[in-house]
Amino acid sequence: MKIYEMNLDQRFDYLKRETKLSNHDIKILRNPSSFSFVNADRMVENAIGVLSLPLGIATNFVVNNKSYLVPMATEEPSVIAAASNGAKVAKNSGGFSAECPESLMIGQVQLVSLPISPVTARLRIRANKKEILRIANSRSRSVVAKSLQVRELNDKSRNKMGKILLLELLVDTKDAMGANVINTMCESVSSKLEDLTGGKAILKILSNYATKRLVKCRAIFSKDEIGGKDVVENILYAYSLAYTDVYRAVTHNKGIMNGIDAAALATGQDFRAIEAAAHAYAARDGTYRSLTKWYKTRKGDLVGELELPIAVGIVGGATSVNPISKIGLKILGVKTAKELSMVLSAVGLAQNLAALRALASEGIQKGHMRLHARNIAYTAGCRGNQIDLVVKKMSDENSITATRAKEILSSLENKRTGC
Ligand code: MEV
Repeated sequence: MKIYEMNLDQRFDYLKRETKLSNHDIKILRNPSSFSFVNADRMVENAIGVLSLPLGIATNFVVNNKSYLVPMATEEPSVIAAASNGAKVAKNSGGFSAECPESLMIGQVQLVSLPISPVTARLRIRANKKEILRIANSRSRSVVAKSLQVRELNDKSRNKMGKILLLELLVDTKDAMGANVINTMCESVSSKLEDLTGGKAILKILSNYATKRLVKCRAIFSKDEIGGKDVVENILYAYSLAYTDVYRAVTHNKGIMNGIDAAALATGQDFRAIEAAAHAYAARDGTYRSLTKWYKTRKGDLVGELELPIAVGIVGGATSVNPISKIGLKILGVKTAKELSMVLSAVGLAQNLAALRALASEGIQKGHMRLHARNIAYTAGCRGNQIDLVVKKMSDENSITATRAKEILSSLENKRTGC
């Protein structure tokens, strides 16, 4: 039986069999107020409640020969089905192969108003490298500042504030996302840098542009499974537009992030950090382009590649506060932050394949509206089995609108009351 055919109890039984979820975890999932107001009030200011989102499971993911059930939190219908479909096609050709060689983040300290030349300042910082790293590392037990670099920048803003000297700490965040500890490290070294250079330290903060946490993911999608030669050609045309035109590239990348954000949210990640870095990376050659690349093999199958920075953690942050995020990570079963980032990249690639495949064949509205029809039926007032009846009739008629849902509902009710 497929997950979408199971009722909620069967889905929980399935998760208990396939993952390490305990009865206690299932109890948390069953209880919508598991993430309580008390938690919320501790996390943000002026809390007044908790906003819920649907949490689902994407299936068929095989990444580096390991199978995953991917938790996804999203309000958008078809995202989870699309990811699962894309993953299924990839699985039949061996799954996704992904790599994430480094887990380094950059922390920046901005030095201005230098009374000495930037060259001298740079030399003094270099000569004190060990001491600066020692101070940074005194603020952390696990995450390690490994190295530092100095950059000299000319102010390009209209205010002409003069030269900027930038001290950058290269920090190995290991299994943490690392934001807090890097910020602390940057603050801790700033007075030493002011002493060394006579300058003034202004900003002391990590960079979310995590170009040293790049993830690469690749998969082959058989032409026969995605609808044949013409669909492959159309996908390549779609890619050519997303590579060439920023208006299309943004929508193309939005589709990729539909998957990455949903899985990131379900596992307690800072998805805004991932988004910001992804879009900057999409513009790395000076023009905003598609994050994925698509081409054909000699046999005519489709190859997809996705490369982007993904800064995630499996310790600290929301993962240690929100019980649902902990469950999300448990369902996924990742052992390291690098593994999590590789799975997220596979979700992004699967999502992009599914969107391009639909756009390059029947268009996305048909499938999307089919799934959205349930919301429309509910909004029109249908409850219980009325939802299935109204959705079926609207789909058969290819007329999925709130007005039609109301008409069908009222004819059902008239029949029931004999009017
Ligand atoms: C909708 O949320 C995402 C898509 O627009 C992505 C795309 O056009 O590639 C379907």
